[in-house]
Amino acid sequence: MSNIRVNIDDALGTVSERAVEAMATEVRNSVRTLVEGTGEGNDFLGWIHLPEEIDNSLIDDINATAARLRSECEVVVVVGIGGSYLGAKAVIEAMTNPFEETKPRVVFAGHNISEDYLAQLQQYLEGKQFGVIVISKSGTTTEPAIAFRLLKAQLEAAAGKEAAARRIVAITDAKRGALRTLADNEGYTTYVIPDNVGGRFSVLTPVGLLPIAVAGLDIKALVEGARARQQAMLAGSDKSAEVYATTRNALYRSGKKIEILVNFNPRLHYFGEWWKQLYGESEGKDHKGIYPASVDFSTDLHSMGQWIQEGERTIFETVISVANVDHELRIPTDAENLDGLNFLAGKRVDEVNKMAELGTRLAHVDGGVPNIQVTIDRIDEANLGALIYFFEAACGISGYILGVNPFNQPGVEAYKRNMFALLAKPGYEAETAAIRERIG
Ligand code: PA5
Repeated sequence: MSNIRVNIDDALGTVSERAVEAMATEVRNSVRTLVEGTGEGNDFLGWIHLPEEIDNSLIDDINATAARLRSECEVVVVVGIGGSYLGAKAVIEAMTNPFEETKPRVVFAGHNISEDYLAQLQQYLEGKQFGVIVISKSGTTTEPAIAFRLLKAQLEAAAGKEAAARRIVAITDAKRGALRTLADNEGYTTYVIPDNVGGRFSVLTPVGLLPIAVAGLDIKALVEGARARQQAMLAGSDKSAEVYATTRNALYRSGKKIEILVNFNPRLHYFGEWWKQLYGESEGKDHKGIYPASVDFSTDLHSMGQWIQEGERTIFETVISVANVDHELRIPTDAENLDGLNFLAGKRVDEVNKMAELGTRLAHVDGGVPNIQVTIDRIDEANLGALIYFFEAACGISGYILGVNPFNQPGVEAYKRNMFALLAKPGYEAETAAIRERIG
């Protein structure tokens, strides 16, 4: 099984071991609430057993669709926002050489409403064979709907309606929503997002699996990594998610309101973005919740490092530590040694990075920033699958410890209401009148 080790030694001190232990009953109750499905949001717990329930025929089917898109397309555009894109983006970024031209190239759209972004994307796609994977659980989200309208029109104009329909795959609800109706009408290949799996917990459904497979990655290994972690956690032999959830809540109660997810490997940048959505949308409710932030070190040690070392003491760090990297690169000797770095000659770059990691941890702990270390063996599909499941499980437990419903997101509706009112969407007449009066 892919190993995940959680070390809280450098968090203790800010919170005592006794304070963490005192939460034991509360934590046990939260785990029970989650696993037995007796808490708020219990109609969205499908992700708990998902890795075990994904059968090989679905994986084979997804791989076959991916192979078709890979052979027919130079570019595949994945259209989605929030949970409908971040998981796939995180895994693809972690597993792809950023300097290599890939075929197909997987790009993303529908996660913003930027005219510049969409126009530049359309320019880039001009003259290229491209396909589209459009993902929306509700089937009504504005950002992906706008992007999809544009891309569908472009593809149909370039390839003809029939060929375009072959190169569009829709991932949405089994029965409901505008995207389901459109996909059925147009005869697109479709995959279903299970009713009981919310967007930010959906990376191990076709939402994440199809784009990841199109990028040429091993989705079977990803699912198996998650499955092993699921089995160990549900059997009670793996307590890592509980330890992490407990410690971050103990820190929160001691005044540490901001958690910074740290990586020392840029491959994990988007994993941080996925994590921020998972925790931010799950926990930020009822005027409560740890604010999830993320940094890439050592890059951001030259920007945010100063704030973290000496700014307001309301933060703690969770470092995703990677034990082994995939390449071996040694620092060369230089005859002139003008940079004075010959003392490093012959050492691996990763050894220097590891010392930067250790040195940073010690400095930040000395500066009053508690540290949780989450170590994985290496960055590969199996470990990423395990890490995804670990953070999802910890998020469910943590939300219940905090006393919120971790599986809804009522707060994201507020901006939509205003946007629709400002744009005079039919049905919003009263809101339009009210907001126009407000802004004058
Ligand atoms: O976690 C969530 O539920 C959200 O972030 C959604 O994934 C996001 O809003 C996109 O929704 P949809 O897939 O319905 O377009």
